[in-house]
Amino acid sequence: MRITRRSLLGTIAAGTVLPAFPLCAATGELRASVRDVQLAPGNFPTTQMWVYGDTAPGPTIRATQGARVVREVVNDLPQATTVHWHGIRLENAMDGVPDLTQDPIAPGERFTYDFSVPDAGTYWYHSHFNALEQVSRGLSGPLIVEEAEPPEVDDDIVLALSDWRLVDPAAISEDFGNRHDASHAGRIGNFVTTNGTAAFSRSVKRNQRLRLRLINMAPARIFELSVQGLSGWVAAIDGMPVEQLLPIGQMFLAPGGRIDLIADVTADVGQEAFLLEIFQGEGFALAAFPVEKGGEKRRGAQAALPLNPGQQALPQMGEARTVPLSMDGGAMRGLREATYQGEKLDGQALAQQGIFWAFNGQAGAPPTPLAEIARGETLRIPLMNQTAFPHAMHLHGHHFREVLPTGGLGPARDTILVDPGTVREIAVLCDNPGDWLFHCHMLSHHAAGMATWIKVL
Ligand code: C2O
Ligand code: CU
Repeated sequence: MRITRRSLLGTIAAGTVLPAFPLCAATGELRASVRDVQLAPGNFPTTQMWVYGDTAPGPTIRATQGARVVREVVNDLPQATTVHWHGIRLENAMDGVPDLTQDPIAPGERFTYDFSVPDAGTYWYHSHFNALEQVSRGLSGPLIVEEAEPPEVDDDIVLALSDWRLVDPAAISEDFGNRHDASHAGRIGNFVTTNGTAAFSRSVKRNQRLRLRLINMAPARIFELSVQGLSGWVAAIDGMPVEQLLPIGQMFLAPGGRIDLIADVTADVGQEAFLLEIFQGEGFALAAFPVEKGGEKRRGAQAALPLNPGQQALPQMGEARTVPLSMDGGAMRGLREATYQGEKLDGQALAQQGIFWAFNGQAGAPPTPLAEIARGETLRIPLMNQTAFPHAMHLHGHHFREVLPTGGLGPARDTILVDPGTVREIAVLCDNPGDWLFHCHMLSHHAAGMATWIKVL
């Protein structure tokens, strides 16, 4: 396969040095502000972004499993904001959903998030207020929860994938109200980055074992991924270890989703290994790993990662309640009508307000939950995608399992990609009390109606 250096803007500046993520203590400040960032290659102007700290993505927060994470978010933005800790099974009050779990943090105000992290793995944080705009401007960052005894690897590398819509030539396009995006596949960027650069590169040694933590932070892009010069396994999905390591194959990473790979460097010394995005049949380098001389022998067998508490209790299928979710609307399947803010409106009136999608005839998070369920009960939700587009459904505060057509249960996850015209059923053991948002993580779709919530009593 032909490997292309990803550079939709032009040539990549030679010798771009990757910024190391500053490692933060478990408590501290997380300041959201407007900053000029060198996002595009060095021969382009800087980009005015909204960031946590000084960079997009923001600082990597690392905490040990079971520890508390305390961050005082300081809002230096021109808009209100909140922070959501994606994939963490935390207390509802810390979940960062405006109006559902907290008041928005007004400009100039502060809010302290304080929660513990019960499950090891790869997570992330991002703005959840006006998220289409705020995430598209840069407000996201990695959140890594380390195992008390991490697996032995030679390097542990976070690869935060995103895309940006840049115009003339390196400004964030401010067409957040774009109706074509809202009613089609969402805001897809024209510039793809890994850890905030289009030229991410990290030296490795032949035969080294790497842990690669892939996070899709893009507003709507589904990454089709593969590797070259690396051989190994998928070790975790959405933070949760898979029970048995799976060989790396073709991977689709939906917005919000994460995959942990554990892989050995098999490319020859002097060559490069790659994480690739497969795009229109071509492989684009998302990350390059130039191979230096090193260990002569590959390491031995790799054990699966220890399971997290959050995946050990399985949904109780026998006593489960089933609440179907019909996903409707979008281009080519226009909404005929839906209830929006308590009013039944026709498709045209909805479109005028930027609403193109509905769940069970409701556009936008409704005043009453999709389901109200007692703590410890299992909820089954057949996700019926009647639209012409894929949707990345994300549930807050819980991991769920897909109910496979064979009747078995898929791996624990917090985000699932539902292809157009298909039904994917999920089962959730609802063991975390509170009001939990359930929405499409294509942020343009969320903003255009694809949201509901469940209440766990
Ligand atoms: Cu990653 Cu509701 O969000
Ligand atoms: Cu969607």
